[in-house]
Amino acid sequence: MKIKNICCIGAGYVGGPTMAVIALKCPHINVTVVDANLEKIKAWNGPLNKLPVYEPGLAEIVGEVRNKNLNFSDNIKSSIENAEMIFMAVNTPTKTTGEGAGMASDLSYIESCAEDIAKYSKSDKIVVEKSTLPVRTAEKIKEILKSRNKDVHFEILSNPEFLAEGTAINDLFKSDRVLIGGDQTSTGKKAVQELVKIYTNWIPRDKIYTTNVWSSELSKLASNAMLAQRISSINTLSALCEKTGANVVEISKAVGMDHRIGPNFLNASVGFGGSCFQKDILNLVYLCRHYGLEEVAEFWHQVVKINDYQKERFSQKIIDTFKGNLINKKIAILGWAFKPNTKDSRETPSKYVAVKLLEEGAIIEVNDPMINLEQIKSDLRSYFQSKSIERVKIDSLLKNVTFLSFEKIHTRIFSSIAIITAWPDYESIDWKSLSLKTKIFDGCNVTNENKNIYSIGV
Ligand code: NAI
Repeated sequence: MKIKNICCIGAGYVGGPTMAVIALKCPHINVTVVDANLEKIKAWNGPLNKLPVYEPGLAEIVGEVRNKNLNFSDNIKSSIENAEMIFMAVNTPTKTTGEGAGMASDLSYIESCAEDIAKYSKSDKIVVEKSTLPVRTAEKIKEILKSRNKDVHFEILSNPEFLAEGTAINDLFKSDRVLIGGDQTSTGKKAVQELVKIYTNWIPRDKIYTTNVWSSELSKLASNAMLAQRISSINTLSALCEKTGANVVEISKAVGMDHRIGPNFLNASVGFGGSCFQKDILNLVYLCRHYGLEEVAEFWHQVVKINDYQKERFSQKIIDTFKGNLINKKIAILGWAFKPNTKDSRETPSKYVAVKLLEEGAIIEVNDPMINLEQIKSDLRSYFQSKSIERVKIDSLLKNVTFLSFEKIHTRIFSSIAIITAWPDYESIDWKSLSLKTKIFDGCNVTNENKNIYSIGV
């Protein structure tokens, strides 16, 4: 089977950038990205400065290949029909209801993709799991495909995505590794080789690692769990630093200088956010419990529990500084994205801090270089709704949230400023002058050890 047409289902943070890079590096392949969300497809076809995903370098690539060999379409049926290879890059959030609620992955989006693929396929297909999935999901997908469509041969591959938001394009250009899992049958091995061929257009062969399907699926969960574990590990030490006079910035440096440990993912913070770490670890915990590995489950669960503790600890520090009275106190929150260089605010620690402060009666002004007030309010509204808070109460809490422009950070008077996302813009702020009139809580250590400022773990 020669791959001339690729279809990717899911035009989100993963589907958009990965397919843009495949189209750029493989001009001989037509790539079509489809999505059930028509607004998103419209935005991918719209102005380059308003694409649904912001990643440095992405707009330039889309500008180069869009409507040549990269298309964004809402015609799922014909895109599936025409493609020899179909990527599934749909969301796999934590289940909110039913068995495993709050822990297991919600696979309904993946299942509905599989239904569509079975329904519209008239020729053999290689189906690639790009979404992060629990180990042995390929089995479930195979079952759906085979039971719904007996005329077509489907080969399932696992090809998890390791890109990090904010550096997605660079990560895709220079991946540490590309992982491809496939069945150890002759057709399975051939399918793996087809995907290897695509990646070797720009990735050196020795960075492409082929494994069995289950190892590939589990490697993605394992990688995210280990990365998040490092963040929670340094965050536990930040709490100990504050009690002992040690400095977590120095601890990170000293520990990270050991080549066996390395310096990455060792910065103390208000905790990790984003759509992946928490959901993937909870999924891992659920899987371990499913297989009766209670001790292993508990080990990984602690990573998430420490993350919650860190967000709580930071918020409580602010509340305690005002002796529990935040009523009508004006507090600025700097940073809403879960990390710099993205406009993704899923699971952002800022939201948890904001909620806690709003519930104590504070008036919040939020600055973010990429995220607007509408998104901030929508994030907060969804959170409050998920806690079954009454609409009237939500409306009154949200009245206390406004947007703070960067210029006004210096000119407005706040009781307190909480720095949560380490956007480079914040490095240029004159913290010394601000700290004379305002209590500053630095959650990402950007203020460089000013004695009047609370810096996490310092
Ligand atoms: P996303 O939410 O940004 O995008 C998913 C898209 O799939 C949405 O636009 C949604 O409308 C669409 N969709 C869902 N079901 C569909 C269906 N049946 N037919 C057509 N479209 C459908 O999600 P994101 O962040 O791109 O994540 C996708 C997967 O990749 C997840 O499993 C995630 O864990 C994984 N991942 C995410 C990374 C990230 O940095 N965001 C990094 C690595 C993996």
